[in-house]
Amino acid sequence: MKGLEFEGRRILVANIDGKIYAHDGTCTHEEADLSNGFILGDRVVCPLHLSQFDLRTGEAVTSPAVEPLKSYGVKIQGPDVYVEVD
Ligand code: FES
Repeated sequence: MKGLEFEGRRILVANIDGKIYAHDGTCTHEEADLSNGFILGDRVVCPLHLSQFDLRTGEAVTSPAVEPLKSYGVKIQGPDVYVEVD
């Protein structure tokens, strides 16, 4: 899991079982930086109040967060990972 910043936006990129996923890197509860959290299976755990988000879908799996993370498309070209931001 790695946190990136692009034009003031936090993006979280994670490798789950060899597949790369990208989502907003800011918790939908109170704006914690999820890259400071930790991975638990296929979830990221928020470092502030411990909400868990599914890293495959962005879904908020445990409270207090209820809103999902925005997801981004990912393209792999050789060793490079590109994230499609709008
Ligand atoms: S800021 Fe992430 S659960 Fe509260």
